[in-house]
Amino acid sequence: MTTELSRRTEEYCKRVLDKNASNQDIVEAYNDWAQIYDDSVKSLNYECPSVAAEEMKKLFQEKQDALILDAAAGTGLVGSELKKCGFHNLDALDASEEMLEIAKKKKLYKNVVCDFLGPNRLDIPDDTYDAVVIVGSFNPGHVNGSCLAELIRIVKSDGYIVIVMRKELLDEKFGRDLLEIMDGHVSAGRWAVVSRHPAPRYSSLNKGMVFVHRVQ
Ligand SMILES: C[S@@+](CC[C@H](N)C(=O)[O-])C[C@H]1O[C@@H](n2cnc3c(N)ncnc32)[C@H](O)[C@@H]1O
Repeated sequence: MTTELSRRTEEYCKRVLDKNASNQDIVEAYNDWAQIYDDSVKSLNYECPSVAAEEMKKLFQEKQDALILDAAAGTGLVGSELKKCGFHNLDALDASEEMLEIAKKKKLYKNVVCDFLGPNRLDIPDDTYDAVVIVGSFNPGHVNGSCLAELIRIVKSDGYIVIVMRKELLDEKFGRDLLEIMDGHVSAGRWAVVSRHPAPRYSSLNKGMVFVHRVQ
């Protein structure tokens, strides 16, 4: 990694992982990071987009026209991996305009929406998607369990929600709160667990965890 890329990558990672940062600070940090985000994460061997795409391939087999929302899509790295697996019916949503500008240039997505994932209602009808995939974005100050009810609402019955995130978060309050919300949706019969397992790869810095739930 060049020294300059390494210095700036470290600076942005610090900003987005700052536990005291507000949602707005985080979105501003991604707006600033957008131009070099792909180079940064490549230098960190960030492989979870391909892990997520492989999970989707297992779930959908040959149904490559599945309508998939890449939530917190960023610059479109997940969309790009989904496309390599043959998926071609993709939408993207993210809170950062600048990250989405990079994603749009890749021409991977039919609809690209700038919106916030949280307890707020999304401007998306009920039962729209065959799946939602969300990668690398469940983090303090980013996306948390408060958006899951809304994701469940926009996914069709028998559709999937696939989450790939840092495994170490499960040992923190953030992860414990998330698991409690996930399990609450299981108990309420809103979704069922398909699998919860360590990711085969994540990045040079972190280990990963994959959550796959089927909407009921
Ligand atoms: C680490 S990046 C991951 C992007 C992409 N999924 C990937 O794997 O490369 C996190 C993304 O989450 C977005 N984000 C953070 N909090 C969000 C929220 N509450 N709602 C929507 N997007 C959010 C950021 O703008 C950023 O693009």
